Amino acid sequence: MNDVILNAPVNEPERQLYFIDECRKILIEDGIIKDGKAPTYHITTFGCQMNFRDSEKFAGILEKIGYISVEDEKADFVLYNTCTVRENASTRVYGRIGYVGKIKKEQNPSMIIGICGCMMQEPDEVAKMRKSYSFIDIIFGTHNSYMIAELLYTLLLNRRAKAKKPTLKTAVVDVRKDPCCIVEDLPVKYDSGFKAGVNIMYGCDKFCTFCIVPYVRGRERSRKSCDIVREVEQLVASGIKEVMLLGQNVNSYGKGLDEDISFAKLLDKLSDISGLKRIRFMTPHPVDLSDELIDVMKRRKTVCKHMHLPLQSGSTKLLKRMNRHYTKEEYLKLVDKIKSAIPDIAITTDIIVGFPGETEEDFEETLDVCKKVSYDSAFTFIYSKRTGTPAAKFEDQIPEDTVKERFNRLLNVVSECSSANASRLIGTVREVLVETLGHPGNDGEEVQTQGIGDEVMLTGRLDNNLLVHFMGTPDLIGEFVNVKLEECKDFYYMGKRI
Ligand code: SAH
Ligand code: SF4
Ligand code: F3S
Repeated sequence: MNDVILNAPVNEPERQLYFIDECRKILIEDGIIKDGKAPTYHITTFGCQMNFRDSEKFAGILEKIGYISVEDEKADFVLYNTCTVRENASTRVYGRIGYVGKIKKEQNPSMIIGICGCMMQEPDEVAKMRKSYSFIDIIFGTHNSYMIAELLYTLLLNRRAKAKKPTLKTAVVDVRKDPCCIVEDLPVKYDSGFKAGVNIMYGCDKFCTFCIVPYVRGRERSRKSCDIVREVEQLVASGIKEVMLLGQNVNSYGKGLDEDISFAKLLDKLSDISGLKRIRFMTPHPVDLSDELIDVMKRRKTVCKHMHLPLQSGSTKLLKRMNRHYTKEEYLKLVDKIKSAIPDIAITTDIIVGFPGETEEDFEETLDVCKKVSYDSAFTFIYSKRTGTPAAKFEDQIPEDTVKERFNRLLNVVSECSSANASRLIGTVREVLVETLGHPGNDGEEVQTQGIGDEVMLTGRLDNNLLVHFMGTPDLIGEFVNVKLEECKDFYYMGKRI
């Protein structure tokens, strides 16, 4: 162990801030950072908002070290932040690794390739990566993702040692079985200047039988409310107008903290921050969704009138096998309660088709719930067997063609409901937060993208999470504007700025 490592602070975040400096020093000493020259990095993120949030932290740390971001994988440091929730997420990662390995070999042998995220919490995947892709330099998991600077420092040292003794192995593999602490106050590079994701808790204790998340993200841990409030205040001061509070099961927020706090109380506290215009959150579980939460959503204008309430299945029998702890009737009752308290609320959901043992009758129960709730939109997934989860051992897996047929029927029902809901707002004027340049354009229709003068097609988001496309100038991005909703096309509107 060298003196730098021996002298490293024990506590976080001081330790990682120290390694950020030490990485920078090595890169300067080795001529990789010098006047007018900076190494480049590229991060590809798979999976959910949690992973995207983690990637913003990696970007913040790498930029503090001295790396600059590039769009593609022709970079000095390429990092893949992986997801394993369904099989296709993992397959895509392997495709990318093959591709980047080729770039490293042919164009940039000193490239650093890192793999992190949920897939790396699975020992079999780590073993496969190490065996089949010897060009990978850094592997770490979700529980020690805050350590990226320390791991990079170790790799840089190993590479120096190898320069003297070529037989040395340099790869750094550090995956922890359990989470340790929540590390606050490391650098972050937010992707957007006007909206940001904010973690309020990590992990999940629910153990739905199909889901791998509790195994790869560990037990539930909440951030202290003062740390969350401080982060949101800083974000608002830097121009952020909308925050998305992130947790696998936000209803459990606060459990285990030494303070009198609940998710609803947290929403109330954050709504008091002046300058913050919108608060969204993902994801509440239907089981412990409190009246207090419905009340705060009704009372506080800042809290968006949108509830993403994962159903998974409409069959009480399957819900039991999924370990979801609610029945079809309880779910419908909850939706009624929410809708009668907040009549204009948008309700969206996640549904799995083809869970083991799903009969035609079970599936029809799902369609029935969809029609009764009339979702504004739904993420629909084909069940994917995840090794290590209880459902992977269930014997009555459903044949692929039956699943596909049901999946298409579900899409039709969801789309009918969402179009019918969306059409109700036609002709009204709504406030949208302008997010990007862009137009729908993917449904084969001719779309006008150039307007009068400097006007182009813009995309904004309504309070209820639906998108609106309208003509305006690019300087409106990040601003709230009023738009008249003129036409509705399934999941989005065409509108006119008023
Ligand atoms: N914590 C959230 C969502 C986590 S994962 C919740 O409880 O709702 C996001 C969605 O992926 C889940 O809601 C579920 O619909 C889907 N999903 C999870 N595991 C899956 C699997 N094995 N096969 C198909 N879809 C799955
Ligand atoms: Fe997975 Fe269920 Fe936890 Fe959501 S609540 S992350 S679906 S185990
Ligand atoms: Fe995927 Fe991990 Fe999120 S498995 S869905 S990236 S928590």
